[in-house]
Amino acid sequence: MVFTKFFVAIALVAVLVPSTSATDFMVGDDKGWTTNFDYQKWAEGKEFHVGDRLVFKYPQGAHDVLRVNGTVFQQCLKPADVPPLNSGNDVIPLATPGKKWYICGVAKHCEEGNQKLTITVWPEAGSPQGLPAPNPTPTSSARASISSAFYALTVALATVSGVIMV
Ligand SMILES: *[C@@H]1O[C@H](CO)[C@@H](O)[C@H](O)[C@H]1NC(C)=O
Repeated sequence: MVFTKFFVAIALVAVLVPSTSATDFMVGDDKGWTTNFDYQKWAEGKEFHVGDRLVFKYPQGAHDVLRVNGTVFQQCLKPADVPPLNSGNDVIPLATPGKKWYICGVAKHCEEGNQKLTITVWPEAGSPQGLPAPNPTPTSSARASISSAFYALTVALATVSGVIMV
């Protein structure tokens, strides 16, 4: 019984974890959103998924955040049709997959301070149409070993009770 509960708990964890792993990414970590920071390096090795959020933190008034396209990003333009986020604690939910571009629109922070970030957002972790399903194998092999463990347990119990019966 103890073993059964244990395996059920493991099975629940294996099933639930992938769909509840939405992450808040603090852009620049403890440096926040600022000039002269390598945001591409920061983004390297991170996996962004639909449902995650980016948090841009900075002293209000010092910077802002513009959500732009690749052209604007490359050239550090300041498009008039893009309303800046400027609360100093701007939370951007990643709602759709694909490439995303963010720049600071204050002074020459983008062109001279390299204050720009581009990321690729993958479909929701655990979603069936997921492009790079992050780790489908551990889940299924976990399930497989759970059922073989159950089988072994059943056989063991049957054997034990058989022995006792005889
Ligand atoms: C990029 O954004 C700018 C400003 O919002 C816009 O004028 C331009 O048409 C956009 N370019 C593309 C390829 O969408």
